[in-house]
Amino acid sequence: MTATDSGGLENKSLPQKSVPLVSMRNIQKSFGSVHALRGASVDVYPGEIVALVGDNGAGKSTLVKVMAGVHAADSGDFEIDSKPANIRTPADATAHGIATVYQDLALCNNLDAVQNLFLGRELTGSSLFGRRIRRAECEVRAREVMTRMRLGNLSLTRPVGAMSGGQRQNIAIARSILWTPKVVILDEPTAALSHSAAQQVADLIRGLADDGLGIVIVSHDIHHFVVNATDRIEVMRLGANAASFRSKDVTGEMVVNAMVGGNEGVNLAG
Ligand SMILES: Nc1ncnc2c1ncn2[C@@H]1O[C@H](COP(=O)(O)OP(=O)(O)O)[C@@H](O)[C@H]1O
Ligand SMILES: [Mg+2]
Repeated sequence: MTATDSGGLENKSLPQKSVPLVSMRNIQKSFGSVHALRGASVDVYPGEIVALVGDNGAGKSTLVKVMAGVHAADSGDFEIDSKPANIRTPADATAHGIATVYQDLALCNNLDAVQNLFLGRELTGSSLFGRRIRRAECEVRAREVMTRMRLGNLSLTRPVGAMSGGQRQNIAIARSILWTPKVVILDEPTAALSHSAAQQVADLIRGLADDGLGIVIVSHDIHHFVVNATDRIEVMRLGANAASFRSKDVTGEMVVNAMVGGNEGVNLAG
């Protein structure tokens, strides 16, 4: 299965496209008697936005949590840059360039954007003087990332609790790319957003993909976000892959049909 738009041989001239950043195959995961993943697979290529869709309980969150090192798979193949990767903890995933933006964003409302960006990994100095210098360094780095994300207008000093849902989502994404990951996983990035804020998030994610990152998005927003803002759609059902589509080739209705059943094993992704 090729997963790129043009597919097949011509991609040999684009070596960066031919090797997945992350490849997970035949992943099994049980929680006690619940068999959450029954041979689920997903590949992520550089520059590609992959949507993971499916009904509640299909296994989307479990699959991305295995990718993020939150859950260890019971079995299956997990490769990064074509090499077997042993990802058992979130720190392992981070070390391999996999970053995650969780649905709750995990932002501290009383802190500003710079503080949130560096939360838990502050560049701390031993003296007040040192700390001040560190704050200045953090602001410079935060400004760089925000500019790269074309968010230069966003206040770095306002508490994020006073910001809109879209702005908060953007800050959570900025935090995920601070340490230059290769793959960013987003869980429901547009769930609480207005149409225009969701469009902004879509533009931002496309910008990251254009920079060569691989993006994995769990989303229920099939009819707007998934079909319009992603490149490939992997449909999960009962812990396994039910269908695979190139986003530009499908309607929301086709995707929903695959989510609920029928069209067994459809693969229109090329
Ligand atoms: N930590 C957990 N402990 C027990 N069961 C879980 C846990 N996480 C998920 N599950 C179960 O695994 C199945 C898949 O869940 P999940 O991956 O969250 O699906 P989705 O994200 O597609 O809604 C569900 O039956 C869910 O109840
Ligand atoms: Mg879920």
